[in-house]
Amino acid sequence: MKKSLDEHAARFDELAAEYDGDHSTEYRACADLVVTHAEEDGAVVLDLGTGTGAIALALAPTAARVLGRDISEGMLEQARAKADEGGSDNVEFDVGSFRDPNVPEDVDVDVVVSNFAMHHLDDEAKRAAIQTIADLEPDRFVLGDVMFFGEPDPDEPFYSPEVDDPATVGMLADAFTDAGFALTAVECVHDQVGVLVGERAIGGNGA
Ligand SMILES: C[S@@+](CC[C@H](N)C(=O)[O-])C[C@H]1O[C@@H](n2cnc3c(N)ncnc32)[C@H](O)[C@@H]1O
Repeated sequence: MKKSLDEHAARFDELAAEYDGDHSTEYRACADLVVTHAEEDGAVVLDLGTGTGAIALALAPTAARVLGRDISEGMLEQARAKADEGGSDNVEFDVGSFRDPNVPEDVDVDVVVSNFAMHHLDDEAKRAAIQTIADLEPDRFVLGDVMFFGEPDPDEPFYSPEVDDPATVGMLADAFTDAGFALTAVECVHDQVGVLVGERAIGGNGA
């Protein structure tokens, strides 16, 4: 990882108040696709790297319950304020990370989502995170993120090389299948932004 968990959390604490006003067309298209692929009536949803809750709050009207998890208290505060304003009382925002999602033992998660967050991890940590997600035994995992469909143009990085560490689509696809997810959709939003959908293969999590 190019920055520690604490450094990422501190960076997002500082960005939190302005975060929602600063999105690219590609981010919006990616977020819309994540929501479309993740929507399921009555589902229990876990949103990892929830930030200010964009995906969690968009899924709340169809879900039974949504758990939003993040390492930045500043981002979580914004998310909670939006949930209060919008009357979303089936969404709970709390501290949690990719490695320790902080899901109560008695909660069965149906759908895990993550948008524009996993690229902060290095590839080894992404693999470990995807396995941790598989161990929760969701039916589906929807990942929207910065990812490379080809050789990224060094003059037009869609990310900040000093803090971000995006993977290739191939590496992520392998990590999905190694963790027991069958890859059912690969959506290219931009040659550096995409959405992957994994469905848990029948018969277990493949671990
Ligand atoms: C670019 S924001 C995306 C927020 C939101 N998912 C969205 O679509 O707007 C990335 C978020 O990932 C969080 N994050 C970074 N590393 C994380 C980790 N290891 N575990 C959980 N959250 C993390 C950051 O704190 C930040 O809120």
